[in-house]
Amino acid sequence: MTNKLKYFIGNWKMYGDFSSLKIIHQIQHFCIGFKKYNKKNKIILCVPNTLIYFYATKIKSKFISIGAQNCHHHQSNGPFTGSVSASMLKKSGAKYIILGHSENRSEGDTNQSIKRKIGSALSQKLIIIFCIGETFNEKKEGKTFSVLRKQIRSSIDKKYNLNKIIIAYEPLWSIGTGKIPKVKELKKIFKFIKNEIKKIFKTRYLPIVLYGGSVNQNNIRMLSTISEIDGFLIGGASKSSKKFIDIIKNYYK
Ligand code: PGA
Repeated sequence: MTNKLKYFIGNWKMYGDFSSLKIIHQIQHFCIGFKKYNKKNKIILCVPNTLIYFYATKIKSKFISIGAQNCHHHQSNGPFTGSVSASMLKKSGAKYIILGHSENRSEGDTNQSIKRKIGSALSQKLIIIFCIGETFNEKKEGKTFSVLRKQIRSSIDKKYNLNKIIIAYEPLWSIGTGKIPKVKELKKIFKFIKNEIKKIFKTRYLPIVLYGGSVNQNNIRMLSTISEIDGFLIGGASKSSKKFIDIIKNYYK
């Protein structure tokens, strides 16, 4: 992976069925015609577990990869009703996996369990999209950097292969609210995250860091001016092929 690529990652959350394949087909069709930028883009759609195998076998596209949205921390089979392991997701055709999403943190994921999930997914050669972000109260209290530092340091082990981890900065107060941080704030936060990773890993390699939270076809113009942002994790707008495609188009306008 290289930082020169721009990532457009859809997080479908609990949405979609077999007929939603048409959304992916429309995105694929757009990619085929978008020759000038294709080599610069990486498009990943993280879909519900029930659709991974179906989409992965139907979509034979070099432009689009399929990802999962969460997994159980346990590596092998076990008595965990309703759960799936990273290995099951990998065998279904997932190449990427979102871990640490705030919606899963609010249902019980902790920095420690996320660390185990990351380890388990890495062992299956899945590429991790690791979500971090502060709440509105934490932001108001000036705790953004300390919260992010703790999330990063508690969940990323120095032994992990940094090439296989993409960070997604998603302030909780931005997810699904239509609100996004100011350009100045984002620049500072992205520099902070990249420096923090450099410090932990004692590396000069700059990690891939995405922004997520209410990204849409309008605010993407403003977000595209921030060179520190390597791509976007897109929730609501990724369920519509038109909105998702317009985000990519407007990014390059
Ligand atoms: P949103 O969701 O784009 O709908 O705000 C982003 C996310 O939860 O990943």
